[in-house]
Amino acid sequence: MVTENMENKKSIKLRRNMACVKFTGMDKKGEHPREADSRNQEREKGRRQGTERQDVSRGCPGCRIPVERSEDDSEKHSFPSQKNLEKEISDYLTKKYGGKVKVISQMVFPKQVRPEDSEFPGNKSAKKGGCLCFDIMPEELEAYLHEYVVKQDAAKAVLATKICTHFKKIAYLEKKGKHRLPVGNIKNNIILIGPTGVGKTYLIKLIASKLGVPFVKGDATKFSETGYVGGDVEDLVRDLVKEADGDIEKAQYGIIYIDEIDKIASTQDLRGPDVSRAGVQRALLKPLEETDVDLKTPHDPISQLEAIEHFRKTGKRMQKTINTRNILFIVSGAFSGLAEIIRKRLSSQGIGFGADVEVKEDKEWLRHVKPQDLVEFGFENEFIGRLPVIAVLEELTEDDLFQILKNPKSPVIVSKKQDFRAYGIDLKFEEDALRLLASQAFQEKTGARALVSVIERALMPFEKKLPSSDIDYLVVTRQIIEDPEGELRKLLEEPDMPRRKNHYEAFLSQEKQQIIAGLSLEALPDWQEQGTELNDLRKELIAHLCLKDDLSLEEAAANVLFWIQQIKSYEASFYNRCEIEISFDDSAIDRILDACRLDPSTLYVHCERLSSILEYGLTLIREKTGQEHFNVPSEAVDNPELFINRLIRICYESEK
Ligand SMILES: Nc1ncnc2c1ncn2[C@@H]1O[C@H](COP(=O)(O)OP(=O)(O)OP(=O)(O)O)[C@@H](O)[C@H]1O
Ligand SMILES: [Mg+2]
Repeated sequence: MVTENMENKKSIKLRRNMACVKFTGMDKKGEHPREADSRNQEREKGRRQGTERQDVSRGCPGCRIPVERSEDDSEKHSFPSQKNLEKEISDYLTKKYGGKVKVISQMVFPKQVRPEDSEFPGNKSAKKGGCLCFDIMPEELEAYLHEYVVKQDAAKAVLATKICTHFKKIAYLEKKGKHRLPVGNIKNNIILIGPTGVGKTYLIKLIASKLGVPFVKGDATKFSETGYVGGDVEDLVRDLVKEADGDIEKAQYGIIYIDEIDKIASTQDLRGPDVSRAGVQRALLKPLEETDVDLKTPHDPISQLEAIEHFRKTGKRMQKTINTRNILFIVSGAFSGLAEIIRKRLSSQGIGFGADVEVKEDKEWLRHVKPQDLVEFGFENEFIGRLPVIAVLEELTEDDLFQILKNPKSPVIVSKKQDFRAYGIDLKFEEDALRLLASQAFQEKTGARALVSVIERALMPFEKKLPSSDIDYLVVTRQIIEDPEGELRKLLEEPDMPRRKNHYEAFLSQEKQQIIAGLSLEALPDWQEQGTELNDLRKELIAHLCLKDDLSLEEAAANVLFWIQQIKSYEASFYNRCEIEISFDDSAIDRILDACRLDPSTLYVHCERLSSILEYGLTLIREKTGQEHFNVPSEAVDNPELFINRLIRICYESEK
């Protein structure tokens, strides 16, 4: 897009002894008429071709300091063109300092959009103009969960569907101008039932991050009827506001996750703690449905002071309450003993009778759970009535644990690699080692949680010793898991063993080939959307980044796409600078990418140098021939001087 920004701002960077001097100018009103005219034509042309130029933000490429434009200045003065300005400054500085100071035109880059920015396309729900915009469909959310979570298909389907519907319905009603849900509306609050470490919390965290809604987690065991030290259930609602950076509107569409909910179920024996457990359930009734929660707690002097300060500054009272009507509550627990209750019910109803009744596993029974079983378990009717959706998660098998370890998106392995990467050590895992780790973890009966502990147990000695050695890579083999201390000793005795190095390199190259083989445009919607070519070099670069920086495929692809956009943005900058259109061939872009693969920050230096050389030569040719558009092929990147000389020669020869 040709933006006002791009049309109006010009900046010049003066480099001397590393110092940067920034100039701004070329306001809309001060623009040279010929320049404005030709820009309009260009904009029109861009629109016709569907290739409007990129929005660019200003900044010094060396230090990347944004350049501010003074509105006042631009209104008062009419600025010369950038070229004249550069020339005037150059002449002045040459007079004053001789040839020591050089004026370099500012190049500009588009604003970098990172996945964590809330505007990133992954985060599809957002408050826009007071209305919740929500455009994720249940199947899309389910597919996203499949990428990260192993097994738990039933729970994924229920969660994806009900959570999407919850937000979609709110968005729909808001759009219709109905800012309240119908009287008697029942929210899709959810109960998750499953043993430890099978993905209950993980699923909800993934969903909250995908939807971009604030999320808080608390433990039911911390609550008491009258509130635990520092607060009560309502504290979680207040925490949601903190999570939403104080944005109450946003917090009203958050998710509150309460773990260990089974611990507040009372037993039949109504004495002692059971009485207060029932009390906690009752305390939860209102927030689960709809209530206004005061944001200022009377016992919190800081929030009281904040309110006074806010009133002093704005003269307005702070919004004091947050309503829970749109907040989604998800509770979870292991519910041990629940399977037995279901078995008894089904048996008494004559369902499931037969030879296999007694041998059925818990998970078989849990699948038939009904609200009445949860009441039998020790919950109040009213409490269960406010949690109408039930999802059951299965235990993970040894193979499931292996699949978790093999998944490149699994935080278990990624996080361990990062631990070592922090010391400059590249950590790789052989498949055989992963199998053994899964098998060891399975013995511990704590689901995927055990994976972390078995990995820690095996790698702790390496994590202690290797940082102070020269070793900068480690391939975790089955032998290392079986005998960590022995293998570490061998490694330290002979760190440069060629066999070890060869093994690592072969492993690295195999991993790279696997990543490349799995790369396709279909898997990269952003690339597809922008019509960016995905050739072998770019695939190789993406794979290189995945391995070098432990990035996910998406992150690495997003980085490469960003660099390509940066290079392309020079086309617009170049036009701004000398009113000559250039277009980089894909091969030229690839050459620049390749040259910068070890240090992407040099991309700007490359483009800057190339632009300066091209500017001089192409301006000359335009003056001679009137040509205003030039292709920049790979040879121009390889040797810009030679390329320009050749063009000039051809131009002069054709004149003769
Ligand atoms: N099904 C799964 N697929 C992939 N990774 C999983 C799965 N289950 C658990 N994990 C991994 O194990 C970690 C712990 O899982 P999580 O916190 O979801 O357990 P949980 O079911 O909430 O257990 P608890 O009842 O003890 O809180 C997750 O962060 C994730 O890395
Ligand atoms: Mg949990």
